[in-house]
Amino acid sequence: MKIIITGAGGLVGGALSRRLADAGVDVLALRRADLDVTDAGAVERLVGAERPGLVVNCAVLGVDECERDPAAAHAVNVEAPRALARSAARAGAAFLHFSTNYVFDGEGRKLYTEEDEPRPASVYGRTKAEGERAALAAYPRSLVVRTSWVFGAGKRSFLSTAHREMRAGRSVRAIRDTWASVTYVEDLSARVGEILERGGRGLFHVVNEGVCTYEEFAREAARLAGLGEREAAPLVETVTEAEMLRPAARPRYTPLGCLAAERLGLAPLRDWRAALAEYVGNDER
Ligand SMILES: NC(=O)c1ccc[n+]([C@@H]2O[C@H](COP(=O)([O-])OP(=O)(O)OC[C@H]3O[C@@H](n4cnc5c(N)ncnc54)[C@H](OP(=O)(O)O)[C@@H]3O)[C@@H](O)[C@H]2O)c1
Repeated sequence: MKIIITGAGGLVGGALSRRLADAGVDVLALRRADLDVTDAGAVERLVGAERPGLVVNCAVLGVDECERDPAAAHAVNVEAPRALARSAARAGAAFLHFSTNYVFDGEGRKLYTEEDEPRPASVYGRTKAEGERAALAAYPRSLVVRTSWVFGAGKRSFLSTAHREMRAGRSVRAIRDTWASVTYVEDLSARVGEILERGGRGLFHVVNEGVCTYEEFAREAARLAGLGEREAAPLVETVTEAEMLRPAARPRYTPLGCLAAERLGLAPLRDWRAALAEYVGNDER
């Protein structure tokens, strides 16, 4: 079976592409230069010509970019999943789309499950929530996977590189007043495979167990990088979300509960600390 992956130059798309290629699957990993997902005509022609068994959309416009350019956010995060879902349905292929904990406003202090209504508080969150609905309306058998704070190889982001920075003696700015679930991209990829194998369709949350702040994540990353508490202390500069002065608001408390996977008989993913230990360990080699 052929699998098309869009946004394959990114963190999730890259990890999924590598995992599938290593397993001997025929993967067409498309970076933005290969396929602009906002070009509905190009999407339709490509999916029609390749006749894949599965189309996976990993293309996305980032959180702050969405706030700066709402029209581009709508094109990438809403219209593209709609067009991809429609093209997959016409080609008789399955469709997998990714979404985010940022569809929730995080104003309470609760675990959000697939049964909670989205209430986004940023352009990114609003367009991602609309993109979920657009994909499911265009193709009701789509699989939509919401994940949260993803880390792994291939991305220059706080979560993916904090351990490396601190090991090199460079400090990191870690936010102390935002809580969420964390997800190792390899665990996400494996779990998505299990959901597909079991015929899961509709909305799923996929995250590692446990909840943390960026500060707690940074301290654990430092420990795993071999730094003692006294060595780590000056390297973790704690700040509030407000002090970051970022264009888009981030929700304060959005841990995800994975009810739909549980109903498929899938055990919770390991704790984020165990997943981070594996990532940091592999990164040393
Ligand atoms: N990373 C996280 O912490 C996180 C958390 C929750 C949910 N998610 C979800 O997971 C999915 C994948 O995210 P990610 O972290 O892998 O994102 P990423 O690393 O930012 O990758 C996104 C990719 O999409 C590409 N792209 C942007 N506009 C495009 C277009 N018009 N046509 C084709 N490709 C385009 C980007 O290309 P350029 O680099 O060339 O712009 C980039 O390679 C998204 O649905 C996201 O909402 C991620």
